[in-house]
Amino acid sequence: MLLLKEKEFINWFPKNNLFLSIIMKLFLLVYVAIIALGSSFLFQDKELQKSIERGNEIYADFCITCHLDKGEGVKNVFPPLAKSDYLKKNREESIRGIKYGQKGELTVNGVTYNGVMTPMGLEDEEIADVMNYILNSWGNNSSKEIVTPDEVAAITAK
Ligand code: HEC
Repeated sequence: MLLLKEKEFINWFPKNNLFLSIIMKLFLLVYVAIIALGSSFLFQDKELQKSIERGNEIYADFCITCHLDKGEGVKNVFPPLAKSDYLKKNREESIRGIKYGQKGELTVNGVTYNGVMTPMGLEDEEIADVMNYILNSWGNNSSKEIVTPDEVAAITAK
């Protein structure tokens, strides 16, 4: 009887040990995953910050003349970028407009514009930077998904 109990115990113990070691491994895995994810977020955030800084300079060189200092634009002539519903909802179209130019009717915050924005000959990387700048300035906050040069490169003229 006692022997049987011992046998049972021996049978039970290694199983339990295995169970414990699986739990430990799981903990370790979760721990490593959290660290890795956390640092990749931090990395992305830093990339975004650097891109926004470069974008700020591009904005000052190429966009400020029409869209103005605070992205407020000129009503009925140059549409605003600050709190622009168009920019927020049409990420791809906005990139296309900066890359290839934009003309024809377009509505921003309920006001219809029918002007012309000529292409400024920017590189894909510069367009990504200026997009990151306007998407994260003057109260605009994008979903935080960084615009990359690859994303810009993939957008073709209509
Ligand atoms: C010569 C003036 C001018 C310059 C310079 C200019 N834009 Fe525009 N932009 C316009 C006009 C006009 C429109 C609207 C075109 C239309 O009516 O179809 C527009 C539209 C836009 C839009 C979409 C509408 C909105 O308000 O959300 C975005 C985004 C934009 N411009 C970004 C930029 C960026 C970024 C730069 C600099 C790289 C730039 N623009 C430079 C005149 C300009």
